[in-house]
Amino acid sequence: MTNESFGPNKGMFDAAVFANKQIGQRFYRLGLEFSADAAAAFAKASPGQFAELDLSGIALPPVEGIAEDLRDVSERKILLRRPFSFCDVSSHRGKTKVEILYCALGPATLRMTALSAGKSVSVIGPLGNGFRMPAGKKMVLLVSGGMGAGPLIHLAKTLTADCPDVEAIAFAGAKTKTELPFEKPTDEISQQLGFSLHEFARFGVESVLATDDGSIGYQGLITDCFSKWLGQRSLLARDAIIYSCGPEKMLARMAKIAEDKKIDCQISMERMMACGFGVCQSCAVKCKVNGSGETLYKLCCKDGPVFDTREVIFSA
Ligand SMILES: Cc1cc2nc3c(=O)[nH]c(=O)nc-3n(C[C@H](O)[C@H](O)[C@H](O)COP(=O)(O)OP(=O)(O)OC[C@H]3O[C@@H](n4cnc5c(N)ncnc54)[C@H](O)[C@@H]3O)c2cc1C
Ligand code: FES
Repeated sequence: MTNESFGPNKGMFDAAVFANKQIGQRFYRLGLEFSADAAAAFAKASPGQFAELDLSGIALPPVEGIAEDLRDVSERKILLRRPFSFCDVSSHRGKTKVEILYCALGPATLRMTALSAGKSVSVIGPLGNGFRMPAGKKMVLLVSGGMGAGPLIHLAKTLTADCPDVEAIAFAGAKTKTELPFEKPTDEISQQLGFSLHEFARFGVESVLATDDGSIGYQGLITDCFSKWLGQRSLLARDAIIYSCGPEKMLARMAKIAEDKKIDCQISMERMMACGFGVCQSCAVKCKVNGSGETLYKLCCKDGPVFDTREVIFSA
């Protein structure tokens, strides 16, 4: 397959690993550096776009480094590339650095933890359509569940650069404190607002946290926390936009909140993906046909992964 077959501004490239740092029990941040044509392609990657990584040739980490509950699945053969979005993209002197926030939960991501600086990985990307920047909005609400934080960190950075007058707040939820995929300890900044997560605070974005068990922040689902927060504010719906990423059940709930409050909402969806660029048809998302009762299937990898909540028909 030649790079022309992927269409404009994307291709299959080799990336050099420059970092792979463990930031939590199962969370890591992988840094990839691209040169030449790949650097130019990834420099334009927008928040919400993703890449397909070939992790099949990497050896597993030593067995003592694999959590007991993952030892059985770790041996499974990897036939397909795996999709990951970016939590940061930066370019300097003809090189582009891309960072991926990931969770080790199966055979491919466990192998990913064994990558070290200087190794090379085959990457196809950047793929899909990312978040669309707000036109005429004053308030941006970034709502993530678990690993969904990655592309929203990238979005927070892009917003700071492209829409400096827009105010943004991040809401992040997980089952418990140790499942929040952030590097630094959280600082409580006020009873009113909540916390300062370094990943967002460095772009001037404060954070509100929720955990199911109440080990940090609001006790309960991030969607309930967000709903309650919205209820206490007198926001003009036309001034605000929601961007969200997380498990599908959470995204379905976000769609309902957005519909009730009449706030625009874009979500990044996940599907199991084989090719990642519209050929295998394995990543269907059921959608409404505008202005009619009919439905159609769109492709998460090509039409998405970012969708407007008004078009998606959720199964969860
Ligand atoms: C557009 C997109 C962006 C993504 N971005 C990130 C990211 O930034 N960081 C990150 O950690 N992960 C991300 N993922 C998910 C990531 O691709 C999977 O975690 C990875 O493929 C798991 O591979 P594995 O072999 O380690 O585990 P597997 O054995 O393949 O999966 C382990 C478990 O996770 C479930 N699972 C795997 N992939 C998906 C998926 N795509 N959707 C729903 N459930 C899945 C499986 O059903 C299984 O239960 C993204 C997925 C998509 C589609
Ligand atoms: S993953 Fe092949 S068409 Fe979407």
